[in-house]
Amino acid sequence: MTPKHVAIIMDGNGRWARKFNKERFFGHNSGINAVRESIDTSLELGIKQLTLYAFSSENWSRPSAEVSALMELFMLVLKREVKKLHENDIRLSIIGDRQRFSSSLQKSMSRAEALTRDNSGMHLVVAANYGGRWDIASAAQRLARKVAEGVMSPDAIDETALDREICLSQEPPIDLCIRTSGEQRISNFLLWQLAYAEFVFAPELWPDFDGTAFDAALED
Ligand code: FPP
Repeated sequence: MTPKHVAIIMDGNGRWARKFNKERFFGHNSGINAVRESIDTSLELGIKQLTLYAFSSENWSRPSAEVSALMELFMLVLKREVKKLHENDIRLSIIGDRQRFSSSLQKSMSRAEALTRDNSGMHLVVAANYGGRWDIASAAQRLARKVAEGVMSPDAIDETALDREICLSQEPPIDLCIRTSGEQRISNFLLWQLAYAEFVFAPELWPDFDGTAFDAALED
């Protein structure tokens, strides 16, 4: 059965670059091809929802040159690829705390979302400056605000109420989470949303994760 919603922790760009004696950025840049390929495979197989972990809250602690290079890469990808997403009837959404990104990057993100918001072929969600704990804490904060405003009783705070406030609440549940590079950790990804998901830990480093590897993960 084809899963409706697949989430991917894209890992191994740095190790991939090291294999070629190159800077880590070389791996991130090559990772873009794997992003494209995973979108193409999802379209071919009829996977309607793909969520990708592009940048975690913890990634800010990487060397500043790598963080800046990644930000430039995100800008470039947004500029270069969004038109193609739109032409393919793909809706793009970004989840995470955007306030730490530059205002130009925030603007590009909002523009890309606005352009593609009515597309219904497939939904691509990119998690950027996202952390599962941040997500749960933010949802709790929104509920607390409602209680403080008197529009909600504390007794009404239950799983359904929190679920309504959390990222991806409008989307189908995640059936499968794939992490590449052989690492077997969740790394503060969608902690709440992955409660009932299945996991596949694929051995390939992210830039090597092609259609065949994606098929193998689904088969698994
Ligand atoms: C993990 O590899 C990868 C990242 C932190 C960045 C992922 C970014 C991309 C693939 C490009 C942009 C994507 C989009 C959707 C615009 P790592 O650096 O942790 O690798 P390592 O574990 O081998 O060091």
